[in-house]
Amino acid sequence: MLQIDALTFNAWGRRFFDRASVTLPNPSKVGLVGRNGVGKSTLFKLIKGELQPDGGEIGVPRSARVATVDQEHPATTTSLLDTILAADTERAALLASLETADPEHMGEIWSRLMEIDADTAPARAAEILHGLGFSTADLDRPMSEFSGGWRMRVALASALFAAPDLLLLDEPTNYLDLEGALWLEARLARYPHSALIISHDRELLNNSVGYILHITERKLDLYTGGYDSFEKQRAERIRLQSAARVKQEAERAHLQSFVDRFKASAAKAAQAQSRVKRLAKMEPIAATIEERVSPFLLPSPPRPLAPPLMRLEGVEVGYGDDPAVLRGLDLRLDLDDRIGLLGVNGAGKSTFAKMAAGALGIRSGRMTRSSRMEVGWFHQHQIEALDPDQTPLDIMREARLQDSDQSHRSRLAQFGIGFDKQNTTTAALSGGERARLLLNLVAMSAPHLLILDEPTNHLDIDSRRALLDALNEYEGAVILITHDRSLMELVADRLWLAADNTVVPFDGDMDDYARFVLDRARGGTAAPSQAAAREKRAKKQRRA
Ligand SMILES: Nc1ncnc2c1ncn2[C@@H]1O[C@H](COP(=O)(O)OP(=O)(O)OP(=O)(O)O)[C@@H](O)[C@H]1O
Ligand SMILES: [Mg+2]
Repeated sequence: MLQIDALTFNAWGRRFFDRASVTLPNPSKVGLVGRNGVGKSTLFKLIKGELQPDGGEIGVPRSARVATVDQEHPATTTSLLDTILAADTERAALLASLETADPEHMGEIWSRLMEIDADTAPARAAEILHGLGFSTADLDRPMSEFSGGWRMRVALASALFAAPDLLLLDEPTNYLDLEGALWLEARLARYPHSALIISHDRELLNNSVGYILHITERKLDLYTGGYDSFEKQRAERIRLQSAARVKQEAERAHLQSFVDRFKASAAKAAQAQSRVKRLAKMEPIAATIEERVSPFLLPSPPRPLAPPLMRLEGVEVGYGDDPAVLRGLDLRLDLDDRIGLLGVNGAGKSTFAKMAAGALGIRSGRMTRSSRMEVGWFHQHQIEALDPDQTPLDIMREARLQDSDQSHRSRLAQFGIGFDKQNTTTAALSGGERARLLLNLVAMSAPHLLILDEPTNHLDIDSRRALLDALNEYEGAVILITHDRSLMELVADRLWLAADNTVVPFDGDMDDYARFVLDRARGGTAAPSQAAAREKRAKKQRRA
């Protein structure tokens, strides 16, 4: 479905690909991985023809339909359901031609409509929309009533519904919540054609794809299996390569010493000569560098405050005169709490975060928090709100007026924003580079409470691990909102669930939660089955 042959591409002062080749099996689902800034999104632009290679070829069969999701759907007046249905252009064209076709062609059109299952189209579209978090009532609402984030999901739903021969997705889970991501995982696994998916989501890469395509050292390496299997194979490859290198070095030294000793000897001249040839022919074995990511700096708060950090009693919050988003909040947060906040999009997780950060006042009830409490609050809007013309250095200068440029630069370098990137405008930074910059900025003041609202979006897998390590070292309290299941499992020691206009402790683990979410997507229960979770744990305890 996709064949890349000796691709070479240079831009912005560096070489991204150097005679890179790969052929993707047909059909196949392939996860495209690699460091932040390595050129994954750039490769998509090359495939789409938005950028031109400096050498080599990128081939897609002529008749193949290729679709990408890179922009939110425009805010039109068309209803949600009709928007999705229109994405299947063949069906739409057939239906339109029914209006005008002469009688002898009607049969043909009808039989083609039967063939493509046109009857079930609305049901299939609705199934996708539900999976992505839309309600039945949403189906008739015009596109213009949805926010940008939701219209991004519409674009994804359209692409899935149209089912192109090659689907290109660039970090699709970034604009989904955990429940949407779980659904997409299962859906992609069943996708009938080829898909190339850029993702840093380990679960998705383990559960949805059959191959991993790795961009490294300006080449494209294809591995069979999911992400865990890729990591194992790659570690083995690195080990074998370095062993082979050591062996080759020894052989080279041996040959060289023979040549040095006997090159002047007439009796051994021929042998020495043949060894010189062998030496010249030896292909150097590249040293595969284990790529390291920069750590995150999450300085711990200087002095502990008196507990609790925050207490909520009968708190209600909301915006303007609108009905309350959350009410009846009775919660307590302690100095070293690690809270994982769960809930579907729109359940009020971000509103909760905003209130905890002190950026949204409460309407009623009582909120007690230390006046000396410093809060670091990271959320996606910060990334969107970055001034596209500013550079990392400009941002640092504003954040730390008192420091010298020298110290700005070394601090940025510590953040993993190297000297070459410090004067690049934020518009030109890759998604991961922007996220890394902001996360480090937010934590710079050593807050007592870190509120991280989807911190791992855009971060590559090793950077996620680096963030996890930093969070484990960090001594303050954490409230974490993430659709990254493995991060949630490893960080949170208590789960809270936002649902039904309130936030309450969730009695169960992430597996219980995943099951609950998938059940609900299949049209099951509407409320968390906390009783079931309790029962399961009781059983576990009985067994133990
Ligand atoms: N217009 C530009 N000017 C300067 N540098 C650019 C420009 N566009 C991209 N870059 C740089 O090219 C590199 C590759 O960008 P790309 O978006 O392809 O990365 P990526 O692999 O998709 O990374 P991520 O995982 O963070 O999304 C980045 O270092 C980025 O800063
Ligand atoms: Mg990218």
